[in-house]
Amino acid sequence: MTVEPQSFLLTLEKRVGLTEQDKVLLKANADWGLKVSPAMADHFYSYLERDPEMKAILHTGEQRIHRLHETFVQWFHEMFTGMDDWGTVYAERRWKIGLVHVRINIGPQHVVPAMATVIHEIGKQLEVDGKDQALKDALSRICMIDLAFIEQAYVEVSSAAVLRETGWTEGLFRRLIATGAKSM
Ligand code: HEM
Repeated sequence: MTVEPQSFLLTLEKRVGLTEQDKVLLKANADWGLKVSPAMADHFYSYLERDPEMKAILHTGEQRIHRLHETFVQWFHEMFTGMDDWGTVYAERRWKIGLVHVRINIGPQHVVPAMATVIHEIGKQLEVDGKDQALKDALSRICMIDLAFIEQAYVEVSSAAVLRETGWTEGLFRRLIATGAKSM
């Protein structure tokens, strides 16, 4: 059940249809990405602040929100550069971002609408700046990949913790889940 980030990334690229042309287009627009990233961070955190549960998480600790702005800007720009051309560095970084969110108990109910907000705001900004639909499509695909990393980390960490604590096999664990789901 353990994820190997680089092969997971390759699987996701195929699954969402991220192409070489998408990567070329993203890299060609990396400066634009960096330029708009602070505004995107503002939209993102004002969206999270409107939700009482997420607001409470954001304001734990003095420097958290400030640090988050910086890490969001970095994250946003990395979607355009691919860091090491969407290689191991990119994959490991996305996996780590997933683990950070699992550790602070931010689940699918938080992350999925948050990513939808990012895509919505990117769409508006692209329109204002007269950018092509192809760039919007490429960004939507890379956002879906990053979202899948965060979501998959949740599943992997929870399952690994149960297996470690109980000593169950993966087969038994899956059977118990299937039985449990049937009775719900
Ligand atoms: C589109 C989805 C999201 C993206 C792309 C994203 C991005 C990031 C990144 C890049 C980091 C830094 C990870 C690191 O330290 O290595 C981070 C941390 C964090 N994120 Fe998110 N995030 C998302 C959703 C959320 C949501 C929904 C919340 C809910 C409040 C949240 C709250 C946090 C918090 C509290 C941290 C840790 C900050 C700290 O104390 O260092 N994030 N996020």
